[in-house]
Amino acid sequence: MIGEEIEVLYEVDSTNEFLKRNYKSFHDGAIVVAIKQTAGKGRMGRTWYSPEGGLWYSVLFKPKVHIGLHVYTKVFSIAIVEVLKKLKVKAYIKWPNDIYYNGKKLAGILSEAVSVNDRVVAIIVGIGINVNNDIPDDLKDIAISLKDILKKKVKITYLLDAINKHAWNLLISYRNETENITKLWKKYLVPREGDRIKIKVDEQIVEGTVLKITEDTLYVDMGGKVIGVQSIHQIVE
Ligand code: BTN
Repeated sequence: MIGEEIEVLYEVDSTNEFLKRNYKSFHDGAIVVAIKQTAGKGRMGRTWYSPEGGLWYSVLFKPKVHIGLHVYTKVFSIAIVEVLKKLKVKAYIKWPNDIYYNGKKLAGILSEAVSVNDRVVAIIVGIGINVNNDIPDDLKDIAISLKDILKKKVKITYLLDAINKHAWNLLISYRNETENITKLWKKYLVPREGDRIKIKVDEQIVEGTVLKITEDTLYVDMGGKVIGVQSIHQIVE
């Protein structure tokens, strides 16, 4: 189960970093929740603004068989989108794993592996959701919180519990069929295979059709020539 063992910290640098330091003291499925983080981490070395009111937590897995970090990331992104759907919030996954609502970022996931002697001993999935926190004015064009979408506060414990239960069910049901996790992930993904998109190549904006999507690369057909896009920042529209 996820979250049977739970540690709530009022303040910590980052719940991912906390678990990296302390994973030995926790069991598989344990979660660490922070009321606020002082050095929240985002993907690609970015900082993740984590004031009171948001849901900032990390899940620890100690898998016997390594199934790949991207599987955990996909499972949690699907779980978040499907739990939000129950709250009538139509969120989607912006490739590769950001949770968006109406063009604005609502949540993010940072999965990390801890290895000892080249063996993965722990997987840490960090989840950050803007729930009841205010979005600073300078970020209002790109980020949104759930309370602003629903015009009311959301019970954080409900959300935490619902996401963990759902993620656990997905992991159990699909653990031997990770390709089905990928199928489900693609259902909520933007862009989709077949979509026309604009991308930046050598400072030029060019248009093409998305041929194939994987967790690391978006293959775009530029009329015969296929370009592999590895960063969300290359996508213009
Ligand atoms: C991203 O979209 O860049 C990923 C953001 C992940 C943020 C969460 S908040 C809880 C956990 N602790 C961290 O320091 N980061 C993740």
